Amino acid sequence: MDRPVTGGLHVGLIMDGNGRWARARGLPRTEGHRRGASAVRRAVEAAPGLGITTLTLYAFSADNWRRPAAEVSTLMSLLESFLVRERARCHRHGVRLAVIGRRDRLSPALNRAIDETERATRDRTRLYLRLAVDYSSRSAILAAAGALTSTEPCDETAFLRRVNRACHSDPQTPPVDLVIRTSGEQRLSDFLLFESAYAELVFLDTLWPDFDGDDMRRAVARFRRRERRYGGLKPRNDDLLTLHGTGPG
Ligand code: IPE
Ligand code: IPE
Ligand code: MG
Repeated sequence: MDRPVTGGLHVGLIMDGNGRWARARGLPRTEGHRRGASAVRRAVEAAPGLGITTLTLYAFSADNWRRPAAEVSTLMSLLESFLVRERARCHRHGVRLAVIGRRDRLSPALNRAIDETERATRDRTRLYLRLAVDYSSRSAILAAAGALTSTEPCDETAFLRRVNRACHSDPQTPPVDLVIRTSGEQRLSDFLLFESAYAELVFLDTLWPDFDGDDMRRAVARFRRRERRYGGLKPRNDDLLTLHGTGPG
């Protein structure tokens, strides 16, 4: 059943800095990725208590195939074991775990792990957790745009559904409210470009393997202090009074 989890925040998390974490300790980059995998659990556990109902984690970009084969292979096996290991736990904790991105370049074993995990958790509604794997936002937008016909009307909401479908997501997935990127880098690296049109951006210096619930709380607290105007103006008190019919005139 494709029941969307709605009502709360959609947070996108660019989990960056595994390599630098490892290098700082004289360890191979792959060790950084291994340690990064346990930070994922901390992020997921913190999310529901912070009002997050959709969490999209950037795990492997379509451009990450450019990395050395040994690193790619470690990342792929970490992803597979994460999906297998977290399946029952997600189910228990009300988490619907899904993977967005291309499937055709992933191994049959990883595809099986994705299918089984998605099937096992699809009726969970506390948190919709999307893992972006072989993901490119530009490719999803291009695929959605390529399927448009000139006669069919399509507004932003309808197009967002198409973009979601193009990357195997639940079509009802809402736009992103907050993008967090760790490791001090300040760019989107082809992540949720259409979905983040009005997202607030929070950049943290923490390297991903060190990320914990406090980082998540701090990022969401920064988001809550932001003023979202969507191109309009900040409502003034007297506008609000007029709006509610209690002001003068
Ligand atoms: C993020 O850490 C994990 C992936 C991109 C798969 P990096 O591997 O990019 O770490 P840095 O940026 O080199 O430190
Ligand atoms: C973005 O990080 C992708 C993920 C976190 C999975 P990268 O480390 O690949 O991004 P760039 O190359 O620094 O932009
Ligand atoms: Mg990086």
